[in-house]
Amino acid sequence: MPDKAPMKALAERARAVLPAGGFGNFDPSIFIREGHGARVLDEDGREYVDYLIGSGPMLLGHGHPEVLEAVAEQLPRGMTFFANNAAGLELAEEICRAVACAEQVRFLASGGEADMYAMRLARAFTGRDKILKFEGGYHGMSAEAQMSLAPTRLVNFPQAVADSAGIPEAVRGEMLIAPFNDPEYLESLLAEHGDQIAGLIVEPLQRIIPPEPGFLLTVRNLCDRYGIVLIFDEVVTGFRLAYGGAQEVYGVTPDLCTLGKVIGGGFPLAAVAGAQGYHGPFRQGHRRRRQVADDARHAVGQSGRRRGGPEDDGNPAPRRRP
Ligand SMILES: Cc1ncc(COP(=O)(O)O)c(C=O)c1O
Repeated sequence: MPDKAPMKALAERARAVLPAGGFGNFDPSIFIREGHGARVLDEDGREYVDYLIGSGPMLLGHGHPEVLEAVAEQLPRGMTFFANNAAGLELAEEICRAVACAEQVRFLASGGEADMYAMRLARAFTGRDKILKFEGGYHGMSAEAQMSLAPTRLVNFPQAVADSAGIPEAVRGEMLIAPFNDPEYLESLLAEHGDQIAGLIVEPLQRIIPPEPGFLLTVRNLCDRYGIVLIFDEVVTGFRLAYGGAQEVYGVTPDLCTLGKVIGGGFPLAAVAGAQGYHGPFRQGHRRRRQVADDARHAVGQSGRRRGGPEDDGNPAPRRRP
């Protein structure tokens, strides 16, 4: 006799082999069997309108014919080569066309990984260690990112509260936390610590909180003043808030941005994008990393994209595309 509630049986099996019986943040009692367009079907045959859309990236809906066609065309030709491939190059070119801060793109497997690399690039570029993030901002699962997303105890800003066990105290000590949408606090914090901060990472639209008018521009200007690499985490907003992401909508161009699965049509793909000079540590070669970082600083200064550099005219960085 067929099982009338297959999801119950699946959930029982899942509890044995998956922590908390699930893949992550969603209700572990629900198992989705398939999705078509804006609807998904669970293993018990219930249909839902899918407002979750894969937590964001399935913007085109499930099984979009053009995505399926592209995938079906490629699958018989192989999937993972390690080497370059033309389709990936084409995607990088399109990202550079679409996203104002993108001159070069490094592909990665997940948004959190892209954020982790972006923070490392900021450290390599500046030679500093500290990272500033906003309370409530989500940037993946790295030790740096797992700070003050939803602090369980009250502490004074800019002290960080670890959201997870297993984070070394040393990492917590390198993080500074500021309240989102509070330019005065940010200004006073940077007046004290600005010259120690490598990167400031922000979701330009933080979860569901839009930036107050002028806030992102203030952040941009303060980063310029203190030589801090501004990172927009566009894992949620990239190609979704607008084709050019939040930086297009709010008219503020970061130094680096991160993009998530939306660039892979929902497949696990992500990227960190920015001006050429910031990608120094990604360049292969036998030179020591310090030399690469020095070259990177030089290259970005030369390009005039980084304010405070030799070609600084005091104006916001030109956006390369309207
Ligand atoms: C703003 C933001 N950054 C980073 C991430 C991490 O992306 P991933 O789950 O691909 O590692 C997420 C995931 O939801 C996100 O919303």
